[in-house]
Amino acid sequence: MAGVEKAKDLAARAAVDEFVKDGMAVGIGSGSTIAYGVVRLAERVKEEGLKVVCVPTSFQAKQLITENNLPLSDLENHPQLDVAIDGADEVDDDLNLIKGGGGCQTQEKIVASCAKTLVICADYRKDSKALGEAWLKGIPIEVIPIAYVPIMAKLKAMSAETVTLRMAKAKAGPCVTDNGNLIIDAHFGQIKDPAKLEAQLNGIPGVVCTGLFVGMAVKVFFGQEDGSV
Ligand code: A5P
Repeated sequence: MAGVEKAKDLAARAAVDEFVKDGMAVGIGSGSTIAYGVVRLAERVKEEGLKVVCVPTSFQAKQLITENNLPLSDLENHPQLDVAIDGADEVDDDLNLIKGGGGCQTQEKIVASCAKTLVICADYRKDSKALGEAWLKGIPIEVIPIAYVPIMAKLKAMSAETVTLRMAKAKAGPCVTDNGNLIIDAHFGQIKDPAKLEAQLNGIPGVVCTGLFVGMAVKVFFGQEDGSV
């Protein structure tokens, strides 16, 4: 393993090693970086006899948990989690995040909000001074399907630079989330006040959840090109 994949692996392992303790209920994020963290957690369960339960943030996360033979739970059985570990698409200097490159931000935000601590693992490309500089695809916004056209118009009126309905890769038609909704990616350039923008976006009827995570993460592990974290 080399380059970016090695950086993801190092960051995810460091997050799992520092934050997961015996007896914890752990929220499991989505994406390619947390996949390394789940492998590390399974190693620790085997080697240390750690007892944990895992609550997924997506269909993909559920598969990661079951494929690695980790105990699967949900928010009905564990409404309070000790820690949630997840990836991110961009992180600013105040640890605000853009998430949702994989379309999972709604369940990710719910699970993170139920955790005492949200920890992020990411590779060096995600480290940014201000949101909107490194992740140029825009803020992923999950919307109720009937509302996507008026919401796109409202986002343009809010001076979004680009507004795109996310399309599926392997079928004709839009990308449908795990919750049966659609995703609009709206790029606002460099975001000076993420909390204000998040509140504005959440105020649009039909918006389910944005990929802006403001003031939620307490620590971010960045895997670097030189092998450090
Ligand atoms: C899933 O929708 C996202 O929020 C991911 O957590 C985020 O895109 C990071 O994914 P990678 O670890 O694959 O970069």
